[in-house]
Amino acid sequence: MTNQPWSPDSWRALPADQQPDWPDPAAVEATLAELRALPPLVFAGEARQLRRALADVAAGRGFLLHVGDCAESFRDLSAPRIRDNLKIMLQMATVLTYGAALPVVKLARAAGQFAKPRSNPTEFVDGVELPSFRGHLVNDDLPDPAARVPDPSRMVQAYHQSTARLNLLRAFTKGGFADLTQVHLWNQEFVARSAEGRRYEGIAHGIDDALRFMAACGIDLEREHQLHEVDLYTSHEGLVLPYEESLCRRDSLTGEWYDCSAHLLWIGERTRDPARAHVEFLSGVQNPIASKIGPTTSVDDLVALCDRLDPERDPGRLTLIARLGVEKVDTLLPPLLRAVRDAGHPVVWACDPMHGNGIVTTGGIKTRRFDDVMGELRGFFAACRGEGVWPGGVHLEFTGDNVTECVGGVEPVAESDLGNHYSSLVDPRLNARQSLDVAFQVAELLKPKGSRRPS
Ligand code: PEP
Ligand code: CO
Repeated sequence: MTNQPWSPDSWRALPADQQPDWPDPAAVEATLAELRALPPLVFAGEARQLRRALADVAAGRGFLLHVGDCAESFRDLSAPRIRDNLKIMLQMATVLTYGAALPVVKLARAAGQFAKPRSNPTEFVDGVELPSFRGHLVNDDLPDPAARVPDPSRMVQAYHQSTARLNLLRAFTKGGFADLTQVHLWNQEFVARSAEGRRYEGIAHGIDDALRFMAACGIDLEREHQLHEVDLYTSHEGLVLPYEESLCRRDSLTGEWYDCSAHLLWIGERTRDPARAHVEFLSGVQNPIASKIGPTTSVDDLVALCDRLDPERDPGRLTLIARLGVEKVDTLLPPLLRAVRDAGHPVVWACDPMHGNGIVTTGGIKTRRFDDVMGELRGFFAACRGEGVWPGGVHLEFTGDNVTECVGGVEPVAESDLGNHYSSLVDPRLNARQSLDVAFQVAELLKPKGSRRPS
């Protein structure tokens, strides 16, 4: 913590991890001046609305679905791609809402997820050592030393890319595509042909029947706007602090500061030290915020972090995303849950079953096992139930594409399939069918005991 009051740039007085080594600091400042003059990407009122929705989740009256790409790509700004990711998100939300009879808060890792923390400053590509790729907001992933030099103009490009993505997401979610009568259309063909897709069709027919039943009862479905549009929120890791600082805006209604680059910002496993710059920055913005919680987190670290980020003990302010790994979740999570509860922080607890379960095949390919993902989720639910804490959400890296990046699933991706369609810029993602399968299994885990709802 600094001795000065918080301001969007008070983080500059503290050590900041994972920042790019910009070759030309003057060019960075010029870029930031440009960003400061641009309109906000999201509005304070929307961030407050998400905060209220997360307060309901913290109280056990909802569930958080936090999903998207590991790293968005500047080269992949196409309408079909944005639409297909939205389709699988809507399908998962439908499965969870229907199966667990709970409102689902839809939060995308999208429209700004362009910066990546790295464990090492360099990486090997085909045997050649290069500066690490840090996300398209910073440098290019091409295996060429010149492409890896941090370029501040990429921050402006990230802003414009985010606007274009958000614009389309807003159009899709408010303009008819997310209408519940379209529930069948979200089933992409390659998904519909699979066992998971057929199971989804069963739910979609159930929804058709329910809508017909309500209409027959005299309910004017046209007037029920919840049936016709969806609230979709955006999020990304708040990693490159000058970028985030330059998009802070003071809300004209309340006078408070919001980071208007996304509705929710999170800090990662590598930047959650309460004494350093990322926590300082997030502590002062009024958005709902989140932190990843990895296996080295001690009870004291966690309580100190909660005290810094949620001093008012305000429901909806803070989400903790546990990513402990399938082997460790059973032993590490219960004391963390107890400590946060006993310290009186009404957080949302979510489970990221991806980042603690990375493996490398003998062929050197980064992957994750579907069974480990499900194993950590089951461990998370069991630990929460054991401590009387609401298992509030799931955080996944996925894509609407038919990729082969994670092994396993109902019609399993084999290790030998990994080379077939592997397009992630950083971490392996669940494909659309694997994601739908997770949603079905999580809906089962969430179902109230004794429920007879079909799925
Ligand atoms: C991520 O979510 O992409 C990530 C890097 O996670 P973590 O900080 O948990 O490693
Ligand atoms: Co990742």
